[in-house]
Amino acid sequence: MDKQKIEILVATKVWDPQEWVDSLSQFDTVSKVHVWPTEEDLSKVEALFVWKPLDQGVIERLPNLKWISSLGAGVDHLVGDAQIPYSIPITRIVDPFLARDMSNYVAMGVLMHQRNMGANQQNQNHSSWERLTYSNLKVGVMGLGKLGSHCVNLLRQMGFDMSGWSRTLKHIEGVKTYAQTELKPFLSELDVLVNLLPVTPDTESILNSNLFEQLPQGVYLINVARGNHLVEEDLIAALNNNHLSGALLDVFRQEPLPKENPLWTHPKVTITPHVASVTNPSSALELLKANIKRLIHEEELLHVIDREAGY
Ligand code: NAP
Ligand code: GLV
Repeated sequence: MDKQKIEILVATKVWDPQEWVDSLSQFDTVSKVHVWPTEEDLSKVEALFVWKPLDQGVIERLPNLKWISSLGAGVDHLVGDAQIPYSIPITRIVDPFLARDMSNYVAMGVLMHQRNMGANQQNQNHSSWERLTYSNLKVGVMGLGKLGSHCVNLLRQMGFDMSGWSRTLKHIEGVKTYAQTELKPFLSELDVLVNLLPVTPDTESILNSNLFEQLPQGVYLINVARGNHLVEEDLIAALNNNHLSGALLDVFRQEPLPKENPLWTHPKVTITPHVASVTNPSSALELLKANIKRLIHEEELLHVIDREAGY
């Protein structure tokens, strides 16, 4: 076996794997790319690239596995999977395009809300010339990691009054930051709440009625992290009693969002189908290429997650 080349298994489920396979096959550090599901011999596979939960039984087919990479920023589809031994490092995609696209999406959501674009569209439908007022907004971001920190910086440059909340206290110029124990004061002074947390046991269902009650009346919610952060019934109740003014939702507990889900038709909800920021294969492949080299040279991999913390 050529020691400078490895075999890889790609398991993408909802994505067409072909673009990944074609590019990975060109790498001079890759001898073979397998695609799950397969009956091929996988005993030489050293790296597994995954999007969405793994089927049961994949890991036991990979006795030589040394590394798993998520093909997105999130790793919630992997961290809770009992078939993955703690000894196998899990990495994720950290990429400037992912951060740029996420910040642009959030900026779009904040601007659409600030400039009353929903109401303007309705007015246009009735040829109604009504000059709606707007004011500057206080925007708070939950999660100040790779995406959240990029987002607060972009929105600060756009002139919004920014704050952020994270597990450990961050220092970001021009942004009011709060540590994990300071959720209440963080929430108490917002106009828009943006969720960019990872899903962990601490953050699962964090967007619930208890949290909404700590927000001032009229706050607009943007959930771009994961559907499992949000208790959908609590959101609908908070919208119906006018405590929250509206929501832009990109992620859902069940995706695709079932046709009968009441969020589809709620007048205060705007929905996009998990497209806030989509992994760009050509730049993500550069990171994978660097990590393949590191694996071959037995160097520490880039962007390894903390299995204990869950992100
Ligand atoms: P990241 O770099 O790991 O950042 C996570 C942030 O959340 C960190 O600031 C972390 O605090 C904070 N955090 C974690 N647990 C917390 C807790 N219990 N209380 C308070 N703060 C907590 O993650 P990322 O790359 O920014 O991505 C965030 C998430 O975005 C992903 O996990 C994924 O689910 C989602 N995402 C969605 C899309 C989409 O298209 N909708 C695209 C990409 C990613 P510390 O800084 O103190 O560690
Ligand atoms: C998308 O949701 C990602 O985690 O990259």
